[in-house]
Amino acid sequence: MEQSKVNQVCKMLVQLARPKNILQLPGTSSDSLNALYDLLPEDGQIVVCVSSFGQHSPCKDSAWEKKIHWEVGVTEEILKKLVARGQQYDMVFIDATEKNPINYYNLIMSSNMLRMNGVICVQNLSANETRSQEHINDEMGFTAKKMTDVINAEARLEQVDLPVDWGVIIAKRIPVSHVTETTKGILADNVFRGLKGRSVLDRLRLDGKVAYVTGGGQGIGRAFAHALGEAGAKIAVIDMVLEKAEAVAHELHIKGIKSVAMAADISKEEDVKRVVDTILVNWGRIDIACNNAGINMNSASEETALEEWDKTFNVNLRGLFLCCQAAGRVMLSQGYGKIINTASMASLIVPHPQKQLAYNTSKAGVVKLTQTLGTEWIDRGVRVNCISPGIVDTPLIHTDALKPLVECWLSQIPAGRLAEVTDLQAAVVYLASEASDYMTGHNLVIDGGQSLW
Ligand SMILES: NC(=O)c1ccc[n+]([C@@H]2O[C@H](COP(=O)([O-])OP(=O)(O)OC[C@H]3O[C@@H](n4cnc5c(N)ncnc54)[C@H](O)[C@@H]3O)[C@@H](O)[C@H]2O)c1
Repeated sequence: MEQSKVNQVCKMLVQLARPKNILQLPGTSSDSLNALYDLLPEDGQIVVCVSSFGQHSPCKDSAWEKKIHWEVGVTEEILKKLVARGQQYDMVFIDATEKNPINYYNLIMSSNMLRMNGVICVQNLSANETRSQEHINDEMGFTAKKMTDVINAEARLEQVDLPVDWGVIIAKRIPVSHVTETTKGILADNVFRGLKGRSVLDRLRLDGKVAYVTGGGQGIGRAFAHALGEAGAKIAVIDMVLEKAEAVAHELHIKGIKSVAMAADISKEEDVKRVVDTILVNWGRIDIACNNAGINMNSASEETALEEWDKTFNVNLRGLFLCCQAAGRVMLSQGYGKIINTASMASLIVPHPQKQLAYNTSKAGVVKLTQTLGTEWIDRGVRVNCISPGIVDTPLIHTDALKPLVECWLSQIPAGRLAEVTDLQAAVVYLASEASDYMTGHNLVIDGGQSLW
């Protein structure tokens, strides 16, 4: 019963801190291991140190074994081995009533085993004054008290004592605790402390930003909507087909992302104006315009009908321009904004064997439009960039004309596979974030190397 309360605290801590690598020193029950295991990402790992397998029999389940790595032996020797391997952890659990906890703690801190912003959770301490009084005179109570004092005096940690059961101390590693003559200089340095005090990963966050994604109802646009939403932005999912936009907005909603679905044909000026006005009425601004909707039609150039040419250009270039202009006007008046257009590798090379003159030409136009707007608007705070994917496995390539070509394309791609929409997600977040503020007019090619062969 008592242990379960501490386990609950540990579990909540893992949920909040979302560590990938955890180190557990002896004293951890297999109950808490099970709880932590479920919370780790697929590629996460818990290293569990035990003196023997006496009380801790490793589970035979293979998924479990992949995440739980057992180290059996003398704790100090195990730690030295992990240090030699250069292992680092996001979270370390120490049981203060075990032997030599202070030695373990010192080794962990002095060898940088705890990552910056990593968390140490020390259990069974005398943080709980009432309980500790009962044991203060026995060896266990004495060690626990000493450990508490060491951690509370540690300048490299920010700590809090929780009087749960026997007491838990939660301590987070911080870069520099107090200003000295030596640290004064580096504390003011943007590279050391992070621009505006934010680490590079924090600078990729989009919290509070307002974004829209056209063609957000499926394929690349859907993945962009999820990525921008996961990074913290509110998302207007815009698609010609309302049901598709609604389905994606619902997915975002159940992930806790603020979202709205809107139907619009971006090749129509009145539709573009309507969605931009609606976003402004609802959310007051537009920070990120992801102009992604596009179509692909195939025909030999000598047979390409003017209708195909016009249809392709109306969506891929004219429609994209309408979106850039409408969102750009808002962003220019705000003095800040990020426009990310979806171009294509077809802007650089002539993908073959498919025949798609109108598509290739329209996408080359997207790149030139991006370069022009990118240079025209940057001094007023608006950055315009584009992403050029290679061949991405989406419904767009599942047409009768394109589907049979997959084998042929695979031989043209150094990466040996088609792109997945998830391959593009980090790029859109980067271009949408303040981390890319000096980048404009750029065509970011993500094609597994295809355009280089
Ligand atoms: N799939 C690829 O291999 C690939 C490669 C390079 C570039 N691209 C580009 O990426 C973008 C997205 O492609 P995808 O593969 O996700 O396509 P997709 O066909 O899977 O999805 C496109 C979405 O856009 C919507 N849409 C189409 N026309 C629209 C319009 N006029 N107004 C509003 N919404 C409209 C569709 O309803 C659909 O939901 C396109 O610009 C495409 O040219 C795709």
